[in-house]
Amino acid sequence: MSVPTLEPGSIDEVAAGLRSAGYLPGESTALVSYLATRLGKPVLVEGPAGVGKTELAKALSRYLGRELVRLQCYEGLDEAKALYEWNYRKQLLRIQAESDGTGWDAVQDDIFGEEFLLARPLMRAIAAEEPVVLLIDEIDKTDQEFEAMLLELLSDFQITIPELGRIEARTHPVVLLTSNNTRELTEALKRRCLYLWLDYPATEQELEIVRLHAPELPEAVAVRLVEVIAMVRELDLKKPPSIAESIDWARALLLLGADDLTPEVFTQTMSVIVKHRTDLDTVAERVGVKLAKTPAGLR
Ligand SMILES: Nc1ncnc2c1ncn2[C@@H]1O[C@H](COP(=O)(O)OP(=O)(O)O)[C@@H](O)[C@H]1O
Ligand SMILES: [Mg+2]
Repeated sequence: MSVPTLEPGSIDEVAAGLRSAGYLPGESTALVSYLATRLGKPVLVEGPAGVGKTELAKALSRYLGRELVRLQCYEGLDEAKALYEWNYRKQLLRIQAESDGTGWDAVQDDIFGEEFLLARPLMRAIAAEEPVVLLIDEIDKTDQEFEAMLLELLSDFQITIPELGRIEARTHPVVLLTSNNTRELTEALKRRCLYLWLDYPATEQELEIVRLHAPELPEAVAVRLVEVIAMVRELDLKKPPSIAESIDWARALLLLGADDLTPEVFTQTMSVIVKHRTDLDTVAERVGVKLAKTPAGLR
């Protein structure tokens, strides 16, 4: 990697660094990120979908000049896919290629060597020569057994492979775990982590984020957009729009050349931010009407 790895000196430095990496951090985001890099503790990032949990890890890796190693969690994820597994095909080929001369013991020693090991994300993060950012994304999708395995790894930073012995971390990764809160995580895991709750941002911050992702969108439209989004979030929807939807909407409006958020434009494009049939009805009724009544703006 061309960029040298960084050791941030202050919270402000982290905030500025994340900004320069294209991520606008809230106060607690900058604080927790700073602590994570200095204390070497993992961070558990929770919050609704689309509020910047995954992106925070990516931005930290860009800012710190560290490689991002990502483990995407899913139901049924096991150690073989998360940690390591033996390359059976290669082992088999090696055994087949063996001429009669060599004894089984020698072959066995050989096929359980590092050359026949497939390192999965967690092991790659541990064994890396240069410190990495390890993103364990959507940990709530795995089961508690997996969580227990992870706990061990996160407290000792070492892995024991029966055939090979212990592999200890050469460098300490910055670890981020994200969760959409679909299940409660264990206390044991929470105890080992710093905690960051990410929520929908305040309108000023969201405006800044939208402008960052769609800089060509006219200021007035962007302002109106975040106001409408805030209004839509107030409604009791199945799935309120997230930052991801705000950004998509901004890009859509830009593409359509909209210079105002008129009721017509709103009706045309609201499926970019609302994605449930019943939510669409609610929003059309409640927000559409409001927009029609205040054509000059919502203020
Ligand atoms: N603070 C922020 N600054 C810049 N972009 C952001 C911020 N928060 C969210 N985003 C953008 O919002 C989108 C959704 O973020 P993502 O990290 O995928 O959400 P999550 O992982 O929480 O579901 C991404 O395009 C990301 O770049
Ligand atoms: Mg995510």
